[in-house]
Amino acid sequence: MKRPPRSTASPSPEGEQAALGASRREAEATATARTYFAVTVADTGESFRCGEHETLLAGMERLGKCGIPVGCRGGGCGVCKVRIESGAFSARAMSREHVSAEEEGAGIVLACRVKPLSDIRLAVLGQMKKKVCA
Ligand code: FES
Repeated sequence: MKRPPRSTASPSPEGEQAALGASRREAEATATARTYFAVTVADTGESFRCGEHETLLAGMERLGKCGIPVGCRGGGCGVCKVRIESGAFSARAMSREHVSAEEEGAGIVLACRVKPLSDIRLAVLGQMKKKVCA
């Protein structure tokens, strides 16, 4: 008995697998193709790259740079207090013990709670400012 020819309108199982593989590769490429921004610490003139997916503090730490003081990394100690001089960012809720609503409105934030949305220029604030690398 003779089999009917395969239709070219619907993909073969092998074609479907190849299409799924291509989709998976595209999704993986998208997941790994992250956007990075330049963050400049005005106090030192030093810059580092920070991904849109990481906090300003994590980006600085990842590159082993000096600049923003590092403490709890969770918004609890306030040592990473900075003033964003220019650039766009997103911020998670911050303790009012360390950053008042007025300060936040003026661009004063905790670097461990902020992710960049563009290149950023910042100044380090607070007691730890004197410990910023020169
Ligand atoms: S490192 Fe403690 S508040 Fe950011």
